[in-house]
Amino acid sequence: MQVDRLDHHALRALLEWQVELGATEAICDAPVNRYEVPAKAPRIAAEAPAPASPATSPAVMPAAAPSAAPDQDAVAAAQAAAAGAATLEALHAAIAAFEHCELKRGARNTVFADGTPGARMMVVGESPGRDEDLQGRPFVGRAGQLLDRMLDAIGMARTHPEPDQGVYITNIVPWRPPQNRDPTPQEIAMLVPFVARHVQLADPDILVLVGNIACQALLGRKGITRLRGSWTEALGRPALPTFHPAYLLRQPHLKRASWHDLLMIRARLRQQEARE
Ligand code: URA
Repeated sequence: MQVDRLDHHALRALLEWQVELGATEAICDAPVNRYEVPAKAPRIAAEAPAPASPATSPAVMPAAAPSAAPDQDAVAAAQAAAAGAATLEALHAAIAAFEHCELKRGARNTVFADGTPGARMMVVGESPGRDEDLQGRPFVGRAGQLLDRMLDAIGMARTHPEPDQGVYITNIVPWRPPQNRDPTPQEIAMLVPFVARHVQLADPDILVLVGNIACQALLGRKGITRLRGSWTEALGRPALPTFHPAYLLRQPHLKRASWHDLLMIRARLRQQEARE
């Protein structure tokens, strides 16, 4: 197809077709105009060019390795903003106004929380995906639908007529990372103060950490296969690491282990209820 002969409407229809197929993002930070005439046409060498020195050729220069150190200014700003929030609404507003995290610029919405504030169980996930970014609510895509079925299996739900059986849900990262990449350690470090305050204000009896990123952020440990299924402590509360529902969608044979974790959650909540 000769794209240069197509009119505006045909080009627009082609673009819409690609978006429908799911090609909704530019791969680079900014779109590249591949039709732009270069300022200087590349010289076509008559003979094989001398090999470029890898140390000097810009085309093969590796990107500068990102610093692994947390951005202390951003962490301090997050701590101050989180500490200043006296309610969940104020915390939501403080996160939405936080300008230190680049992820915010690529996101449509700040995805804060869903479910029952003050619920006995709080689920902490990783970061919003496409559906969550569009709707502004955590866990609404396929993984979220599986999470809902998992909760239902133990008689719980985001909102439940019995307040004790409600669940509150959030993520470590409130903005969708580009191409759903993992958040970096620096991003996690500057967002954890908000999560810590979120947990304090929501005040659940137990935390359920779904997937590696939640464990990395709140336990300082990764390796969900080893961590899952054993109670530990995060932010001063009982916490159970378990598989992320998105992982279960890819590895359905792990649902058996996940069911075991769900039963542990139900038993723990019942035990606490009996003590109260
Ligand atoms: N995965 C997550 O960890 N959180 C969401 O909100 C959606 C998918």
